[in-house]
Amino acid sequence: MNGPSKSLANSGWREYHEFTKHSVASLRRAPHVLDWANMPDPFRHYEGVPVLDLPADPPPPENPAGNGPALLSQLLFYSAAISASKVVASTGFRYALRVNPSSGNLHPTEFHFVTHGLRDWPDGLYHYRPSSHMAEQRAIGDFRGVTGSDTPIVFILTSIAWREAWKYRNRAYRYCLLDIGHAWQALALVAEAMGFDSKAIVDFPDDEIADAMRLNRDEWPMLIVEIRSTACKADTRETVWYGGAANQLSNEIVPHPRIEAIHAATKLIVNSPVEPASTGSGEIKLPPPAQSRRSFGEIARTRRSALDFVGGTLSISLPQLSALLTPAKPLLSFVQLYLYVHRVDGLESGVYRFWPERAELERIKSGDQRVAAAGLSLGQDLAGNACVAFSMIGDLDRAARAHGDRGYRYVHFEAGAIGQRLYLAAEALGLGATGIGAFYDEEVHRYLHVSPEQGQVVYHFAIGYPVPDPRLQA
Ligand SMILES: Cc1cc2nc3c(=O)[nH]c(=O)nc-3n(C[C@H](O)[C@H](O)[C@H](O)COP(=O)(O)O)c2cc1C
Repeated sequence: MNGPSKSLANSGWREYHEFTKHSVASLRRAPHVLDWANMPDPFRHYEGVPVLDLPADPPPPENPAGNGPALLSQLLFYSAAISASKVVASTGFRYALRVNPSSGNLHPTEFHFVTHGLRDWPDGLYHYRPSSHMAEQRAIGDFRGVTGSDTPIVFILTSIAWREAWKYRNRAYRYCLLDIGHAWQALALVAEAMGFDSKAIVDFPDDEIADAMRLNRDEWPMLIVEIRSTACKADTRETVWYGGAANQLSNEIVPHPRIEAIHAATKLIVNSPVEPASTGSGEIKLPPPAQSRRSFGEIARTRRSALDFVGGTLSISLPQLSALLTPAKPLLSFVQLYLYVHRVDGLESGVYRFWPERAELERIKSGDQRVAAAGLSLGQDLAGNACVAFSMIGDLDRAARAHGDRGYRYVHFEAGAIGQRLYLAAEALGLGATGIGAFYDEEVHRYLHVSPEQGQVVYHFAIGYPVPDPRLQA
């Protein structure tokens, strides 16, 4: 992509966010025809580098497999690997689906990792190749300096915005950030299931890391995730780069100066104290969460986005709703959850706000919300046919007061991360879920009576009983 144009060079998060809001008028004004011949390759690979096997079919994360290649295989098989495919009936074309979800299945996120002191695995810098569940060895040597972390495994998640912009144009940067949030939790939760702590690092010098990793210019570092597994003795070898060039993803990269500009604006690191989130209470206390017997590995590998949900009368229970919301609680710092309750036993249809500290719901509106929820999600039926749909309201101003424009990234990471926890909690209960990045921004604010000081909508979500998808193959 070209550099930002002069007039956009200083524009910050607010201008980008305003410009990328959906409205009936904005969609009518700018219809978009997809250029299929120029669709970006969803898989990056590095030409000519050694490609290392990761053991196939690793054991479930509940049985951690030592600390060498098998451990890496487990981490990636349950967070980023291909887990299913779909076949288009009319053409027979088959495409891959992965453990981590992605807006439009375009997968802007790449998984790179630095290892240090793993058994039977040379220290170095690697790129994960999901198409064959293998690791591309880009370089060997001591790469701890890249991130400044000396944990044995450090992931660097990157975004290739063009993959997403090909379809979603300027709004694509939002989706890249949400996808990173999903990928972060995909990794963090498998690490947790394996008994390891993980830590996300969000404030790092982007350009220095991109240079140290010799990233292609179309790929940007977004999030660092340390995995605190056990280490052995490091093998101290000279640094050797294998020099593989990154594959070209499409014939032409169509420039999106607004994406370049928001990315540049969010590179500056500002860390001021974060004002506390507002607290409140509601009239409905959530019961203890329903339990699931399904294993983490099975849940992670079978998670899918529902195309639509069975409407009608099938409902979920209040303990099930509690089980959906409870895992999101530790992440809720800039994001507030609003629920469109369609069919939850013992809970009147309406809009509710979730107050995590007290596990309470506050009723905001009463009455049937199905038409409103679908309408606000750009007319997507699934938000009306679900048992419960969500608006995630991000406090973008508070984040910007604490972190400048970079706060814009953090709010979206948080929303994506909450989305990932909702997906897995739904799957654990035998329900289906779908992230929804398309919504009429200002209509949502009006409908929910959300004032600009309270925040802005950053993500939608829906959970219910999925309709079967005939295209899906395990
Ligand atoms: C940030 C984000 C936004 C999404 N937005 C929509 C949406 O607006 N409508 C929809 O039907 N699916 C949406 N999805 C679901 C994706 O289409 C889905 O994740 C992708 O097709 C891959 O399928 P899988 O989740 O089953 O792996 C979204 C997913 C993410 C992560």
